[in-house]
Amino acid sequence: MIQRGLHVAAIMDGNGRWATARGLPRRAGHRAGARAVRRVVEGAPALGIGELTLFAFSSDNWQRPLTETSALLRLLEGYLRGEAPRCVAEGVRVRMIGRRDRLPAGLSAAIAGVESATATGTHLALNIAIDYSSRRAMELGERVRDVDLLIRTGGEQRLSDFLLWECAWAEFWFTPVRWPDFGVAELAAAVREYGCRERRFGGPPAAAGPAVPGVSA
Ligand code: FPP
Repeated sequence: MIQRGLHVAAIMDGNGRWATARGLPRRAGHRAGARAVRRVVEGAPALGIGELTLFAFSSDNWQRPLTETSALLRLLEGYLRGEAPRCVAEGVRVRMIGRRDRLPAGLSAAIAGVESATATGTHLALNIAIDYSSRRAMELGERVRDVDLLIRTGGEQRLSDFLLWECAWAEFWFTPVRWPDFGVAELAAAVREYGCRERRFGGPPAAAGPAVPGVSA
């Protein structure tokens, strides 16, 4: 059983721009993005995060050039294979959300391998969204737990078909920082600000009490 704790979700945007700004190919941005993922996974539990859901490959990303999609899917496979032992050692339970039927065989095998190797992890639940569309997941009734805090890097402020259902009451935190530059300090800043928000779920302000004295929902 995973310890509860915050469920943080991240739209890891800005890899391409990070690379272009350095005169590098976009795939170099994704590689740097994978290093940021490692930092965030390592740092999350100490910040009170029990579940982390990362948007690694959207179903709409198939529209990108084949060179980029294949590099990205290979990178994901390499990450899952390379990180599996560390995830086992650190009690990170890895699960994939999204479509499995259109992935390269090597990536499918890597996903199955890491999911089974880490199934008993209780320190952190790490969900990786691959070939993921929230609208499709909703049609199929596939859900993860409600999101507490949604982070999007790279300056855009939209959900891009990510966890639409689960973000019903999420707090949003947007930053211009590009994902490859994101690290534990940024994650801590997001969690700190989240801690200052008053979550009301449609109810009255904390100090106000019930609208009619003595009557509660
Ligand atoms: C969006 O940036 C990012 C992606 C489409 C891929 C995200 C993937 C990673 C961070 C790498 C590996 C992930 C894991 C879980 C190991 P973009 O390319 O659209 O950036 P841009 O808006 O600057 O072009």
